Amino acid sequence: MDLHARRADSFGAQAEAYAEHRPDYPVAAIRWALEPLGTTERLDVLDLAAGTGKLTAGLVAEGHRVTAVEPNEQMLSELVRRVHDVRALPGHAEHIPVPDQTVDAVFVGTAFHWFDQEKALPEIARVLRPGGVLVAMWIEPDPDVEWYAEFQQVSSSSIESQRHDPVDVMAHPSFTRAERGTFPHALRRDSPEALVDTTNTYSRMLVIDEQERAAINDKMLAFLRSRPETSNGPFDVPLRSEVYRMFRVSD
Ligand SMILES: C[S@@+](CC[C@H](N)C(=O)[O-])C[C@H]1O[C@@H](n2cnc3c(N)ncnc32)[C@H](O)[C@@H]1O
Repeated sequence: MDLHARRADSFGAQAEAYAEHRPDYPVAAIRWALEPLGTTERLDVLDLAAGTGKLTAGLVAEGHRVTAVEPNEQMLSELVRRVHDVRALPGHAEHIPVPDQTVDAVFVGTAFHWFDQEKALPEIARVLRPGGVLVAMWIEPDPDVEWYAEFQQVSSSSIESQRHDPVDVMAHPSFTRAERGTFPHALRRDSPEALVDTTNTYSRMLVIDEQERAAINDKMLAFLRSRPETSNGPFDVPLRSEVYRMFRVSD
């Protein structure tokens, strides 16, 4: 298995920690993505690559009829344990187990970069009703907060963070050009150790060897214990959600 495939499949080994320590998504981002559909009705929404249900839970809380699709067995079990009122199915973005033109929106949380886009985009187009929306969201560090920017350096591993350039990557004749929205977000952490736990759920930490991980964990802890922003008690990790929405055009 190549590195990309290993990373894409790495999350299940820490599924419980992932559910415990990763951030959710801002509700304002979900609403912005759906607002052009122009309805307050309950929508049929697919959460693709749903993981442990971080985004799924937000979609259910907004009152939508949600189907969650996720290929990793451990991640999907965690989702089923934690999120109720959802139809949960095993499956991949390149072969979505949902009939043609049956959903109003497809959401993808922090996962679009793992897909084989040439196969996934036509599949997403297939399941969407005409006029429906594809929403790809990421949670990223807020680049303007100095201590967290430094922490990114301290926590880097021998493997690069997964880069993406969504507007170009997502260009496809079945969709309008992507529009982008940015929404502030935060993750509350009680201690330096809790932020280290969050960092250890990233694929760049999951696929390195134990020795490298231990060395990075020591560096992260030393840094967080030395900084006034994080050394003492609960703190907010400064994040933002980058959201891209594009609409299914008729064939
Ligand atoms: C970083 S996690 C994001 C999970 C969830 N959406 C969230 O926001 O917490 C990436 C997820 O993508 C899934 N994944 C990787 N490759 C995939 C593919 N080809 N099709 C569907 N899901 C995939 C992984 O199993 C993992 O659960």
